[in-house]
Amino acid sequence: MTIVTIAPPQRLRGTIEVPGDKSISHRAVLFNSLADGEADITHFLPGADCRSTIACMRALGVTINHDGDSVHVIGRGLHGLQEPADILDCGNSGTTLRLLTGILAGQEGMFAVLTGDASLRSRPQKRIVAPLRALGAVLDGRKGGELAPLGVRGARLHGGAYELPIASAQVKSALLLAALAGTGPLTLTGRTDGRDHTERMLAAMGVDIVTEGVTVRLTPTTHPGIPKSLSLHVPGDPSSAAFWWVAAAIHPDAELTTVGVCLNPSRTGALEALRMMGADLTISNERMAGSEPVGDVTVRSSRLRGIEIGGSIIPRLIDEIPVLAIAAACATGDTLVRDAQELRAKETDRIATVAHGLDAMRVTVEPTGDGMGITGGRLRGATLASHEDHRLAMAWAIAGLVASNETIITGAEAVDVSYPGFWETLKQIGGDA
Ligand code: S3P
Repeated sequence: MTIVTIAPPQRLRGTIEVPGDKSISHRAVLFNSLADGEADITHFLPGADCRSTIACMRALGVTINHDGDSVHVIGRGLHGLQEPADILDCGNSGTTLRLLTGILAGQEGMFAVLTGDASLRSRPQKRIVAPLRALGAVLDGRKGGELAPLGVRGARLHGGAYELPIASAQVKSALLLAALAGTGPLTLTGRTDGRDHTERMLAAMGVDIVTEGVTVRLTPTTHPGIPKSLSLHVPGDPSSAAFWWVAAAIHPDAELTTVGVCLNPSRTGALEALRMMGADLTISNERMAGSEPVGDVTVRSSRLRGIEIGGSIIPRLIDEIPVLAIAAACATGDTLVRDAQELRAKETDRIATVAHGLDAMRVTVEPTGDGMGITGGRLRGATLASHEDHRLAMAWAIAGLVASNETIITGAEAVDVSYPGFWETLKQIGGDA
């Protein structure tokens, strides 16, 4: 286990190119594996989660060359995956497990078992299992399909209509990917407001997929050349950049710029929340990178105030709540996070783990069923566990930049899941880790 000790630095300065977006990196490998042709992916996130996706797709017969942040994928076509010889290990990655289950559900005749680490095996899967079964999928898992390992017997799926009860991009994407190889159109309504990278990327690959208001409709293709392979440069991950945004906002002498960050509106909730809290934040150089908007974000030392974070913004900042909780702990007044019960189904129960860590830092925090209340104050250094949750390890590191004495983070290696190089970047900008 890696232990990192952080002492608050005098100043923070720097320009940071954060690693490629995790959601887009997964999708670039998964979808290009189903395409006819070859694709080059640059600025791919080489974190453990995306390496799990590569390993699974290789086990399904896809040729993938991976070197650092460059990946070359030779697609096998929509129906060309090979039956895996062994269990598919998705590691810590919910995106790998859920999107791949959707893909495999429609691979006729193939049998596969998907599993992951203890955290992933404890996360809810009925959310994909039930609607996939409604499309004709043959799959099961522990506790009637509630938990992984999941076993899938590929079948000929039909289309249909499904109203998403929760704003989960993983559920939405699993269903769209199942429908891609199906026999009729799929219409999704309800909580379709999770991140829309799947819709954007599939459309760019020539798939007939349209979004009108809250309705997403996909018509399966009968054309052998669709999806077309798509080479792309993955934009920077806003969920990784958010650590630096909060660091700059809460530190008394800071200016940090993150360049080339994905500014897809389904991902910019943290920027909006920080603005509402009074952060000194500028966005520049806005442009399109393929089908995703990107830009540079500069944040300077700010006087933050507490706000209420709830409702429709929640899916747009769900992964940033651990670090936004640190911003709230440094703000004047109270912050209330509500409607965020999905936090309980992440890599850890992030309502419990964030509240526990803030409490150890002597912050007044009250966990609720669907969020938490935080009263801003002074953070005191403490020994904090990552609980093998990458975003917790990084949130504690940011807290350590302003805490009144040393902060010790145990299980610091967890950052590798989404941000290899995090500790090095922290040192480069002035952090004493
Ligand atoms: C992701 C969707 C979100 C997010 C996760 C990545 C994706 O999860 O929290 O980190 O790539 O589709 P949910 O679909 O469970 O909301």
